[in-house]
Formats: sequence, structure tokens, C-alpha cells
Amino acid sequence: MRVGVLTGGGDCPGLNAVIRSVVRKGVQEYAFDFVGLRDGWLGALQGKVVPLDVPSVRGILPRGGTILGSSRTNPTKHEDGVRRVQNTLAAHNVDALVVIGGEDTLGVAAELSRQGTKLVGVPKTIDNDVYGTDCTFGFDTAVGIATEAIDRLHTTAESHMRALVVEVMGRHAGWIALHAGVAGGANAILIPEQPFDIDQVCEWVESRFKINYAPIVVVAEGAVPREGQMVLKDREVDEFGHVRLSGIGEWLAREIAERTGEDARTTVLGHIQRGGTPSAYDRWLATRFGLHAVDAVKDGDFGVMVALRGTEIIRVPLADAEGRTKTVDPSLYDEFDVFFG
Ligand code: F6P
Repeated sequence: MRVGVLTGGGDCPGLNAVIRSVVRKGVQEYAFDFVGLRDGWLGALQGKVVPLDVPSVRGILPRGGTILGSSRTNPTKHEDGVRRVQNTLAAHNVDALVVIGGEDTLGVAAELSRQGTKLVGVPKTIDNDVYGTDCTFGFDTAVGIATEAIDRLHTTAESHMRALVVEVMGRHAGWIALHAGVAGGANAILIPEQPFDIDQVCEWVESRFKINYAPIVVVAEGAVPREGQMVLKDREVDEFGHVRLSGIGEWLAREIAERTGEDARTTVLGHIQRGGTPSAYDRWLATRFGLHAVDAVKDGDFGVMVALRGTEIIRVPLADAEGRTKTVDPSLYDEFDVFFG
């Protein structure tokens, strides 16, 4: 059997660990042979297919990014896109695909699966918002980076007695903000799931200053003020209809400074959260996902994605996760109320 592998959407630490484990087990245990599709669905559309074998996956376990490249291309938005993808697979004798991606890439996979393509999905994203899995790889690394940044920002904030706002990624879900904010001892954590009250945030900031303590506010890029609209960098959208976020951190610092009269600055962590070597946990989870994905291919169990449930790796129909986002439950967010302000 010949299996194609692709990585789509925003990159994420652990992608290479999945590729390695899929190829190692597929070749060594099932005698599959592999090809890579370059740059996610773009390569599938354009016929950009590269060899993928055991020597080509040596040494990639600790490397960030993806050796196959990635893109946010959505074939269903291109004329004849699905047929062109199917033609590429047929031209290269690809019998089945392992698709490693977040909700958008896996949404395309679900559609292709309905149209007859044999494939298995592997959920990835630093945002941890793919529905149907307890966790995605990449998230632990991102939380570690954001937590270290918050630790560092505490000491400089204290030295200058100023408020520091830390903007982290998280378009629809505040998992990174919540985990890193709690781990880093933030004084306010603002997430997309809970529109925030700017007056309340300023009260928290002022109460910290009153006890001679420099406040740290962690905000997810998709967080929105109660009375306003989401703050956007620009109005350009990708092929999945997503606008480019970022801007809420700067807006917050400006509002805090104006309303409280205190000095406030912003740090936007941006792609630092996505780049570089994966944490040990992400290497572990990505490796397990890869092993189980290639087992699903071997079993002919297509149209599913592998997922973490407790400590088990299970298979979930791609259609179950389609169009859904795993968001932070309000009761979980409320657990940390006591640390705000
Ligand atoms: O989807 C993951 C993510 O990290 C989001 O949190 C963020 O909004 C987006 O990627 C940024 O993507 P890009 O690198 O394409 O601007």
C-alpha cells in the first residue's frame, strides 16, 4: 500500500514527530511505502509530491515546524479542487492519506472522505481547540513558552511598577491563555469564550498596584471586550474565512493606561509560541498519534481521526468533530476567579 502524508494549517511543534512515527511503523511493521504532499492541501492540488522514507525522517523528532511544509489552502474553494486532489492521488498511486491538521484541514479531510478518498486524520494545533480529543500536541509546548514569558515579564514589570499585558494565541479558544496565565500567576486572564468588562480589568489592575505589585494581564488574541467588537489587525481573510487577529493586547494596554493613569505596555508572543522544538509531552503524544493513525490505515478504518481520551488513543469519526470547536467551559474559567485582581 502507498500512503500519502500531509500537514496543513498553522504549523505546530510535534508535526515532525507524527510524520516520523507514521513512516517508521508503516514501513517497518506493515511494509507500506510513503510519499509526502508538500505544503498541505496546496501540494495535493498542484501535484507537489515528494518521496518519504525512513532515512528522510531520521533526526526530525525534536525539530519544530514540518519537513513537508504547510499552507492554509482549502481545495474546496478552488475550481474543481476535490477532483484535482483525487487526480494527484491517482497519478501517484496513493491508496490512502494521513492528514495532520487542525479543524480546517480536518474539515477538508471529512469532505474528501465523503467523496471517497481513503484517509485518516491526526489532530494538531497549539490552540488545543479540536473537538473530540482531550488534547492536541503542540499545546503543551506553547503553554510552556507562554509561561516562561510571563515569568520573565513579572520581574521587569515589578522593577518599573507598570502593568504588562501579554497577548497569546487562541483564535476561538482561550486554552493557552488560561493554562499559561494560571501557571504564570497572572492577575487577569481574558479569553474569547468570556467577553470581558474593561472597567473590571482596570479595577483588578488598580487593586494590584495598591499592594505594590505590578499586574500581569494575559489576553488571548480572540478575546473581546463586552461593549465592543473584536480588535483585528486587518480585514484580510484566508481561504477558511479567518481574519488575521492581534491587536487586542495593544488596545488593552492603551485603555488601562488611560483609565488608571498607570504605565502599561504590551508583549505579543505571536509565532514564538509555534516555533522551535516540541516539549517531551508533545513528542510523546505526537508519536502515539502517528502510531495509531498508521494502525487505522492498516485496518482500513477510514474517515476517522485519532484522538486522546484519558490516557487512551481512540478513533473518532471526522464528521463528529467537523464544524465544532472545543472551548473553555465557563465553570473551569471560574475556578480561577480568586487569583484575579
Ligand atoms: O490556528 C492556530 C493559530 O496559532 C491561531 O491561534 C492563530 O490565530 C493563527 O494560528 C495564526 O496563523 P498565521 O500564522 O497563519 O497567521
